Amino acid sequence: MTISPLREHVPPDGARSASEVADPSLAAVGRREIELAETEMPGLMALRRQLGPAAPLAGARITGLLHTTVQTAVLVETLQALGAQVRWASSSPVSTQDHAAAALAAVEGTSVFAWKEQTPDEFWWCARQALAWPDGGGPNLLLDDGAGLTRLLSAGIAHEVTGSTDIVALDEAAHRMLADEDPQYWRRVASGVRGASEETTTGALHLQRLSAAGVLPFPAVSVNDSVTKSKFDNRYGCRHSLIDGLNRATDVLLGGKLAVVCGYGDVGKGCADALRGQGARVVVTEVDPICALQAAMDGYQVLTLERVVAEADVVITATGNDSVVTVEHMAAMKHRAIVGNMGHSEREIDFNGLVEDPRTRRVPVKPQVDEWVFEDGHSVVLLSEGRLLNLGNATGHPSFVMSASFSNQVLAQVELHSGAVQEGGVHTLSRLLDEKVAQLHLDALRVELTTLTQHQADVLGVPLHGPFKSDNYRY
Ligand SMILES: NC(=O)c1ccc[n+]([C@@H]2O[C@H](COP(=O)([O-])OP(=O)(O)OC[C@H]3O[C@@H](n4cnc5c(N)ncnc54)[C@H](O)[C@@H]3O)[C@@H](O)[C@H]2O)c1
Repeated sequence: MTISPLREHVPPDGARSASEVADPSLAAVGRREIELAETEMPGLMALRRQLGPAAPLAGARITGLLHTTVQTAVLVETLQALGAQVRWASSSPVSTQDHAAAALAAVEGTSVFAWKEQTPDEFWWCARQALAWPDGGGPNLLLDDGAGLTRLLSAGIAHEVTGSTDIVALDEAAHRMLADEDPQYWRRVASGVRGASEETTTGALHLQRLSAAGVLPFPAVSVNDSVTKSKFDNRYGCRHSLIDGLNRATDVLLGGKLAVVCGYGDVGKGCADALRGQGARVVVTEVDPICALQAAMDGYQVLTLERVVAEADVVITATGNDSVVTVEHMAAMKHRAIVGNMGHSEREIDFNGLVEDPRTRRVPVKPQVDEWVFEDGHSVVLLSEGRLLNLGNATGHPSFVMSASFSNQVLAQVELHSGAVQEGGVHTLSRLLDEKVAQLHLDALRVELTTLTQHQADVLGVPLHGPFKSDNYRY
């Protein structure tokens, strides 16, 4: 394969090492945190106990592309406990926890290619390493985030078949990773893949686009569309990890400040709630009248960014969209306004525009925190170069909420591996499995459920033991 210039610890062209992490000596610290996280991830631990003995993932070769954190390590080891072999890389260049990566890599049979602060070329190099199994074969299942692996494979196929990869939205570094001496490499790898499970909103959107264009190479399960993922991780996870990221990055007092949250979907709702909880005055921006009305009824002022940009102390994007905060917005902000992104798109905040604009100068403060000084002397404090700040500046979501998300991932992998999902396109897990994931987390919070009587179940028209809602119930 072709390898672009990489940092020194990456092996030379063609080498296929077991793992590439920043510092293997961090393994013991990482292992201790993984052990602590297990207690806070009751869903994953219950799946190990319930499904492990039957080894439903025996024969599965899973390539995963998802933030290599302590919580992800518990996911990886759950997949292994169910019989899978696993190779892993991170889904963001800034999200790896080096101690978690080291702990995973220290275990015989686990291959990890991840370190914090990767260049775009290093990032895609790691993804390719995770796809290349030591026996020369590829994965038979993908566990994806942002549809990174699926888009890479789709682009590779398009590159081999038509020479044009316009259909797949990928950055230039990914395109540089497509060349291979085997002219059928990408088709060969994709043909071995039974399916992919997808973690996040933006990835699910990419999959729907590929499916609509008829170029999604295998069936996919959008884990994000499980209620116990998007209504929990996106909302309650961000409610926790946004503040964590802001505090670690800047430590400014949020109470009394004017904070703007762009987007009032699941992530935006969690972000706005968190900022309000700190006593900030929160303004929401939205394009969707339903979400705008929700924000208003929740007590937030809903305005355009242009209306508040000059007064805002903190601006957080949570849209998954492009160019939500432009260089002109940042030029109009007050001195040392904090700007950060919670969405999966790297272009919600125009970082490249800042880099290219002759009016701006970068003054690094510390890793993942930069002051961008404009020629008039005012500056903005940009977190994680406009990438996910909760992973770049903090450690992502806490274990408990990730246990719900990742229990869905495990069930999706089992469904794909068992052949229960064969038809092309993008699928969701059944409501019954969704309810099962919630159920696995109730005891830990000492929740006592009320049990329906048969009469009550008949009145509602639902089975006695669920599913308790129709598929179009919105929660
Ligand atoms: N940081 C994290 O840990 C984390 C966790 C889950 C999801 N995500 C990512 O966060 C993003 C949002 O996810 P979500 O589940 O909330 O999606 P969502 O679709 O529920 O919400 C996004 C909202 O943004 C609004 N929007 C779009 N363009 C806008 C614009 N120009 N200005 C203002 N509002 C606009 C939409 O109308 C929508 O209501 C996605 O990229 C997702 O992948 C991040």
